[in-house]
Amino acid sequence: MPKLYGIGIGPGDPELLTVKAQNILKRMDLIFAPQSYIDKDSRAESIIRGVISQDTEIRRLLFPMSRDKQVLNQFWRQAADQIAEALKIKAEAAFITLGDPLTYSTYIYLLYMLKEHYPHIQLETVPGITSYAATAAAANLPMVEGGECLAIFPVARNSHQRLKNVLQHFETTVLMKIGNNLTQVLEVLQELKLLDHALMVSQAGFTQQIMEVDLSRIKEESRGYLAVIIVKNPHKSES
Ligand SMILES: C[S@@+](CC[C@H](N)C(=O)[O-])C[C@H]1O[C@@H](n2cnc3c(N)ncnc32)[C@H](O)[C@@H]1O
Repeated sequence: MPKLYGIGIGPGDPELLTVKAQNILKRMDLIFAPQSYIDKDSRAESIIRGVISQDTEIRRLLFPMSRDKQVLNQFWRQAADQIAEALKIKAEAAFITLGDPLTYSTYIYLLYMLKEHYPHIQLETVPGITSYAATAAAANLPMVEGGECLAIFPVARNSHQRLKNVLQHFETTVLMKIGNNLTQVLEVLQELKLLDHALMVSQAGFTQQIMEVDLSRIKEESRGYLAVIIVKNPHKSES
């Protein structure tokens, strides 16, 4: 039975690759890597370069930044077809993904496609360290303690009203997929008096990592790309 490993390769620092991920990647001779139009050099590839053998082939699979479900379905189906085709010849291959593969990742849609159209392919998912775990660690910031609750909020896919509700109802909120909505996010945090209770890490784990603990200083909208903001709401403390 041909097998595909869906491997989470962590947020950026190659040292945050799990031993399991390393062991599998080392013995693969074919690895699929997602590539978006924005991420032309594929950051994912840079993380695994030191681990894989020189003979390993990396095949890039293009995923557009589109929101159009039909367009996306077409790309996911093509990616699944390419993987299935390769697995006619090879017994196993891997698909790498930043952070954890089951957290807002392209791998999830690939998983759906492969299960539906190629059920003979065995799938094994290898978890990875998420970008928000790396963000909290960079700041030595406890995410949740005692009876506190954590929300993970993808900014780009939700309204600002929903953002306000979530921020008000959870002790800790992780904001992901901020993209070009950074200004609006900062305005909401200001309005809820949470600006002083938030920090942002861009490109966590990469050499370009930037941590900002004073969000009022952020002026460039572009800083929202590949960034996580963690907000601790002091009005929601357990006591
Ligand atoms: C498509 S999701 C992928 C999430 C990923 N699977 C994870 O487990 O963290 C992309 C979002 O993850 C966050 N992200 C991923 N890698 C990051 C990094 N190295 N530093 C900061 N944020 C990152 C950003 O919020 C970005 O918009």
